[in-house]
Amino acid sequence: MEFFLNNKILAFAVVLLLCFNCKNETEPKPAEKKEKPELIMYQPSEMANLMNGMYAYNLQIKQQIINGETPVSMPLDLMKLHSAEMSNGHGRTAVWNSKVDGFITAQQMVVDTLSNIELKERYNTAINNCLACHKTECTGPIPKIRKLLIQ
Ligand code: HEC
Repeated sequence: MEFFLNNKILAFAVVLLLCFNCKNETEPKPAEKKEKPELIMYQPSEMANLMNGMYAYNLQIKQQIINGETPVSMPLDLMKLHSAEMSNGHGRTAVWNSKVDGFITAQQMVVDTLSNIELKERYNTAINNCLACHKTECTGPIPKIRKLLIQ
């Protein structure tokens, strides 16, 4: 009997402790909510973020190539091109589907150190693959992408 009673007291104590813990965890939440910005900010699509990453990467390796260095790594996850959500008005059209794999191959070939095609040529091929898709799928960034070409 005494054993059961002790157990009950213990259980009660544990429950009480848990309650206090819960309270401590939930209490700061209303304050957090207030800090959220009330402005609705421009949210780039997952695809736009990926494209901007591809742009930044190529800008960086362009400079390396001009400096006579050989880029050896391609940290972008290009397979995301097949799944990333796009902004309104864009989608995986027939043109998109016919261009995307060629671009991925061309971009990966830039860092293929065993290739016997000249580095600058492989790089420009990748950029021309950007342009081939952009010609119909998203014309706005074309002047910016053209500047990536090495003359
Ligand atoms: C297979 C087609 C395709 C290829 C290849 C492609 N793009 Fe795009 N790109 C698009 C589409 C479609 C969008 C619009 C995406 C959206 O708004 O969700 C876009 C958007 C962009 C944007 C604008 C992002 C923004 O902030 O709205 C830039 C910059 C860009 N691409 C650069 C590049 C570069 C650089 C390459 C090559 C390294 C490239 N793209 C390859 C189709 C392509």
